[in-house]
Amino acid sequence: MIEAQNIHKYYDNLHVLKGVDLHIKKSEIVSIVGASGAGKTTLLQILGTLDSFQDNKTKLKINDVDIGSLSGRMLAKFRNENLGFIFQFHQLLPEFTALENVCIPAFIKNTPKVDAIKRAKELLSFLGLSHREEHKPGELSGGEQQRVAVARALVNNPAIILADEPSGNLDTESAENLHNLFFKLRDEFGQTFVIVTHNEELANMADRKLVMQDGLIVS
Ligand SMILES: Nc1ncnc2c1ncn2[C@@H]1O[C@H](COP(=O)(O)OP(=O)(O)O)[C@@H](O)[C@H]1O
Ligand SMILES: [Mg+2]
Repeated sequence: MIEAQNIHKYYDNLHVLKGVDLHIKKSEIVSIVGASGAGKTTLLQILGTLDSFQDNKTKLKINDVDIGSLSGRMLAKFRNENLGFIFQFHQLLPEFTALENVCIPAFIKNTPKVDAIKRAKELLSFLGLSHREEHKPGELSGGEQQRVAVARALVNNPAIILADEPSGNLDTESAENLHNLFFKLRDEFGQTFVIVTHNEELANMADRKLVMQDGLIVS
C-alpha cells in the first residue's frame, strides 16, 4: 500500500530525513515512535503528499501510484481521494457544524450533496455522534471533536489514514476509545493506518511498531 525508498528531506542545511525506507501493507496498522525532533511529522507529511521529498533516487508509491510523477491538481486530487489525515489539533472549522465539517472533503471531491450528507451521517452515527451533528466544534468535548475529525478523515473512504499524535490532547478514556476505534475501522473497512504517537499503549497495539531516530527508522 505504501512503498517508500530512500526518502530524504532537508530544511536548508538541516538533513531531517536521511534515507527512510518504509513498506506498509494494505490493512496494516503501523505505529511510529521516537524522540521529539526525530523527523516523524516530516515523514508523515511526505507520506501524505503534503510535503515534497528532494532526491531523485527517492521512490514513493502509494496505492500503486508513483507520487513523484504527480503534481499540482493531480496530486491534490490523489490526496483528497486516497488519504485521510488526523492531527493532534484536529483543525475543525469553528464556524461550521460537525456535519458540515465532515462533508467538506466530500464536497471538494464533487460528491453530490445528498450523498455526501448521507455518508457523513453514517460515519457520525458509527462514531456515536448522531446527536451532535448540528453542533459547532466549540460546543463539543475534546474527544467528540477528535471523533468528528476522524469522520472527516474517512468521508471519502481513503485507503490510508495518517495520524500524527491523534490522542495527544485527549484524556485517558477518550484516547482509549479513539485507539479502539482505529482497530474497529480497520476490521470493518480494511483501512491502512500509519500512526505517529507518544502513547506507548497505542504504539504497542499496532501490528508493527517502528522506532525513528535522527531521521532514520532504526527498528
Ligand atoms: N518547516 C521547518 N523548517 C525548518 N526546520 C523544520 C521544519 N519542520 C521541522 N523542522 C525540523 O526538522 C526536525 C524534525 O522535525 P519533526 O519532523 O517535526 O520531528 P518530530 O515530529 O519527530 O518531533 C526538527 O529538528 C525540526 O526542528
Ligand atoms: Mg511531530
